[in-house]
Amino acid sequence: MRMEPLFTPLIDSLPSTVPFVGPEALERKRGGRPFRARLGANENGFGPAPSVIAALQEHAGEVWQYADPENFDLKRALATHLDVAPANVVVGEGVDTLLGLTVRQYVREDTPVVTSLGAYPTFNFHVAGFGGRLVTVPYRDDLEDLDGLLAAVKREQAPLVYFSNPDNPMGTWWEAAEIERFIDALPASTMLVLDEAYGETAPATALPPLDVSRPNVLRMRTFSKAYGLAGMRCGYAIGAEKQINAFDKVRNHFGMNKLTQIAALAALKDQDYLKVVTGRIVAARERIATIAVRNGLKAIPSATNFVTIDCQRDGPYAVAVLNALIDRDVFVRKPMAPVLDRCIRVSVGADEELDFFEQQLPHALAAVK
Ligand SMILES: Cc1ncc(COP(=O)(O)O)c(C=O)c1O
Repeated sequence: MRMEPLFTPLIDSLPSTVPFVGPEALERKRGGRPFRARLGANENGFGPAPSVIAALQEHAGEVWQYADPENFDLKRALATHLDVAPANVVVGEGVDTLLGLTVRQYVREDTPVVTSLGAYPTFNFHVAGFGGRLVTVPYRDDLEDLDGLLAAVKREQAPLVYFSNPDNPMGTWWEAAEIERFIDALPASTMLVLDEAYGETAPATALPPLDVSRPNVLRMRTFSKAYGLAGMRCGYAIGAEKQINAFDKVRNHFGMNKLTQIAALAALKDQDYLKVVTGRIVAARERIATIAVRNGLKAIPSATNFVTIDCQRDGPYAVAVLNALIDRDVFVRKPMAPVLDRCIRVSVGADEELDFFEQQLPHALAAVK
């Protein structure tokens, strides 16, 4: 037999998988036919601020330079914006990357890690990649079950627990007081990753004040959603100095893109645009909800940049609706875990894309009757 390099047993045991199949892969599978409405990846179809585009154009010629590996300017600007110290902020290539780095710091083989059943799959992907043992807690009434998560943390003595607020894939949210109650009850030895990727589209009452004195809470935010920069890959975590510092032990110091730093800085500066675009996101959410209701479906209230629509039947029915929309060139996604899987998930987008969704949804529903 021909010899070849041996993988570790962990790598050997893992399935070859991606957390999400991209719309580009779906288009390739369809023989290259492009989607006419891209409403599945929770991007911000309204795009970034014109001031961000201008900054990118101005600095495009500088890409021969590596980016500042310390992310000094961006960290300082974020710290000022958040009213914390730069030492309380770590910047990375999207929340997705920061999730992986966090798991790496707290998880080895067979470490129990608590999350909700059906929550953000990229986190689970990283836990699997470091050999952790996922312990999942079902949602309750379409909300992440905070009491259930806490009970699982205590039962398993888990060093890491993850949830997002507002939540993906349901779009639901807890008020800050409930999150604070969870944090107060959390064992001191358990790190909470509180994913606030949708923080800017949520009511202010959903975000507890930042408390960087707590060594067991990491808050994660991103430029991918409200700021409209998913393709630039920039997220950040906020936490206590020692825990933030630990990221420097494992992060890819030259992973950040020079233009990404420039775009994020410009986006942060343009808070007027952020206000305008979050208004558009709220209006688009309302429109998606109205379209759902007009078609006899139920829209779950959302604090994110998408609306999860309850098709009010079982999982296979929702899959059929999803596929019928994809067949009609509308890219949407759906939750896959039991109970949540009765839903499809539609991201906000420009008027023309929502017009197309509105036009196609009745045909998709008729096709699956
Ligand atoms: C809950 C949640 N966290 C993180 C992300 C990804 O963030 P980023 O683009 O910063 O990696 C998403 C994107 O869909 C998300 O829904």
